[in-house]
Amino acid sequence: MSHGPSASGGALVAAPPHGHHHDEPHEPVFVGEARTQLDTILSRYPTKQAALLPALWMLQDARGWVSDKGIEEIAALLAITPAYIKGVVSFYTMYHQHPVGRHFIQVCTTTPCNVCGAEDVVKSFLEHTGCGDLGLTSADGRFTVIEVECLGACGFATPVMINNDFIESVTPESVPRILAELK
Ligand code: FES
Repeated sequence: MSHGPSASGGALVAAPPHGHHHDEPHEPVFVGEARTQLDTILSRYPTKQAALLPALWMLQDARGWVSDKGIEEIAALLAITPAYIKGVVSFYTMYHQHPVGRHFIQVCTTTPCNVCGAEDVVKSFLEHTGCGDLGLTSADGRFTVIEVECLGACGFATPVMINNDFIESVTPESVPRILAELK
């Protein structure tokens, strides 16, 4: 399952280390190659507003999360108010409003998965990643674990999304192997 266009292109500004301070000066994301990419996207849509979601993806790909400064940058480029963009960002769970680990782990804990043991899968992820609690990032910056609503794979409890990869039938026992395969 893939979310949105692949906007990374591999040529964006490198993401700073995770856990950096939120008040750091903002280096513009949409310069050089990234600006060209955005202009190409803009040329495909009748209105600038239509490019908002792809632009947010580019920002998140480049920086790992969607910061207020990044929102202001997009607001200026697309002539949309920052308040409107913030509303959009908080509506979609795939946009991170805070820095997260390199591997963002979403575990379905809605009732059908829960009765099949999803809570134990969550516990196993928290234990083996060293995250400690939901929404926190491990000290090495690698992992963040959150619970999410139904991922539409209730027959394959427990489904887990790690970044854009979808994994079915995760058990507490399979968690260490899954984590070992991540860089
Ligand atoms: S309830 Fe877990 S995928 Fe639907």
